[in-house]
Amino acid sequence: MSNLTRICQLLIFLSIGSLHFVKSDEHNHVYEDNEQVVVWMSTVGPYSNRQETYSYFSLPFCKGLKRDINHYHETLSEALQGIELSVSGLEVHFKENVPFTEFCGIELNEYNLKAFLFAVKSQYLYQMYIDNFPLWGVVGPPPDDKDDKNQYIYTHKKFDIGYNGNQIVDVNFTADNKIKLEPNIHVPFSYEVNWYKSDIKFDDRFDKYLLPNFFQHRIHWFSIFNSFMMVIFLVGLVSMILMRTLRKDYARYSRDEEMDDIERDLGDEYGWKQVHGDVFRPVSQPILFTALVGSGYQVTIVILCVIIFAILGELYTERGSILTTAILTYAATSPVNGYTGGGLYARMGGRIWITQMLLSASMLPLMVCGTAFFINFIAMYYHASRAIPFGSMVAVTCICIFVILPLTLVGTILGRNLAGTPDAPCRVNAVPRPIPEKKWFMEPLVIIILGGILPFGSIFIEMYFILTSFWVYKIYYVYYGFMLLVFIILLVVTVCVTIVCTYFLLNAEDYRWQWTSFLAAGSTSGYVYLYSFYYFFFKTKMYGLFQTTFYFGYMALFSLTLGIMCGTIGYVGTNYFVRKIYSTVKID
Ligand SMILES: *[C@@H]1O[C@H](CO)[C@@H](O)[C@H](O)[C@H]1NC(C)=O
Repeated sequence: MSNLTRICQLLIFLSIGSLHFVKSDEHNHVYEDNEQVVVWMSTVGPYSNRQETYSYFSLPFCKGLKRDINHYHETLSEALQGIELSVSGLEVHFKENVPFTEFCGIELNEYNLKAFLFAVKSQYLYQMYIDNFPLWGVVGPPPDDKDDKNQYIYTHKKFDIGYNGNQIVDVNFTADNKIKLEPNIHVPFSYEVNWYKSDIKFDDRFDKYLLPNFFQHRIHWFSIFNSFMMVIFLVGLVSMILMRTLRKDYARYSRDEEMDDIERDLGDEYGWKQVHGDVFRPVSQPILFTALVGSGYQVTIVILCVIIFAILGELYTERGSILTTAILTYAATSPVNGYTGGGLYARMGGRIWITQMLLSASMLPLMVCGTAFFINFIAMYYHASRAIPFGSMVAVTCICIFVILPLTLVGTILGRNLAGTPDAPCRVNAVPRPIPEKKWFMEPLVIIILGGILPFGSIFIEMYFILTSFWVYKIYYVYYGFMLLVFIILLVVTVCVTIVCTYFLLNAEDYRWQWTSFLAAGSTSGYVYLYSFYYFFFKTKMYGLFQTTFYFGYMALFSLTLGIMCGTIGYVGTNYFVRKIYSTVKID
């Protein structure tokens, strides 16, 4: 399939809003007796970093006799994730046992020997696919010592395939027959296939990857329970503080109104009500702010959609479908970005709306593409299969220009016209009020730094699972229900914490709450990034320039996106709160 057709295909599917174009036509997963079953060889890479991958045949493995059809990337996301498939050349036919068969052999010349020694010593792991089943095998047994003289390689591939009716429902793979790596010997490679009848239902065939021992279930429940208690506690605390304080404040203010002017001048006038003429003053840097908020809305919706699709559709069963869904949903939700960001900008009286719209539409795509390009350069230098093909880059650029941009434009125009009238409950004074001196812990910067601690605390155990599944297991084979719960908990905690922060800030008569609330919530991502350092040094065994840039590059991207999302949630919640309390203020 040429790149152009793929782009067209993608655009067509975007326009009809179908999520199912990821299904390859190569398989409908139904086989007739003796029908050929393709064993796809995918990638090989170090055990310590499952994201660093090279094409399987970059190692001097040899192919079987079967005709050589190269795999062209089926979907955009497969290409983006560096999933490279090539035919193994092994003859496998549905329900036909293959006894021990030698399919090829290689001579261990100096080059081949060196390549295999390196792979074995770095504990290289390869991945294969049979009918979408991911299978993993090690190149050689874990080395006992670093000595080149004492390394072994597995030469036998054993497939135990379970079938139910005319579908494949279970595959076990074993690498066997180790041979000592020595110069100038002949290494034969062999395979065998055994078919077994199985009772597993086709729909449940991936459940074995979700085994409880794969991800410790109990810790998961425990963490959710913990976070949940925290949420209840926080929500209770916030509502209690606010109810009591606000009631007291209102009582004080209404008492004030009964006093005469002299008394009022002498009275202790302080607190949030004093800044009513400034709270709704447009933020500094309105373009950046509204672009961030617009993107934040979009990211929130995309994450929510992807999790829900994953729960409903078991997305992990199809290669690369999560990324595809994310890209499609992102493109499709662009109007949300334009509507919210553009509307907010108009309410703040902004006039340079085209710049705002462009920034809003391009902020996240630029961030993502920038990181990807940078890492791509390094990947190309290392010849990793991670290097993104040129065609895919063109496709992504096309989506940005021809789908995301116009949709954002539509959203912005709608937002400016439907939601663009200023509607602040208090009038803004012409002259800004000076911000009084206050205690150090009431400074916006301190509030911002402290604001992220609790939200981070509510997700950091889930963070461990997400990072582990991504960097160690490569696929997030975990119950997405957990993710959804944690996501909702994160949203609630973020909103509660930001509201409390803002209340203190306004009480200190500092009216710069918009940026403060955004950044206080967004600082969660700073803690996530710090945590990723801890994870890198203590939980992974990654090394080298490629792995390090890859890890920290994508973690930075992840953290930034999370930050934009949390910031927006925090700002939106606080905005609601601020409007609520000031809508009762009577202006004299
Ligand atoms: C694969 O291994 C599991 C666990 O050892 C076993 O229960 C299952 O029957 C095996 N499947 C096949 C097709 O051999």
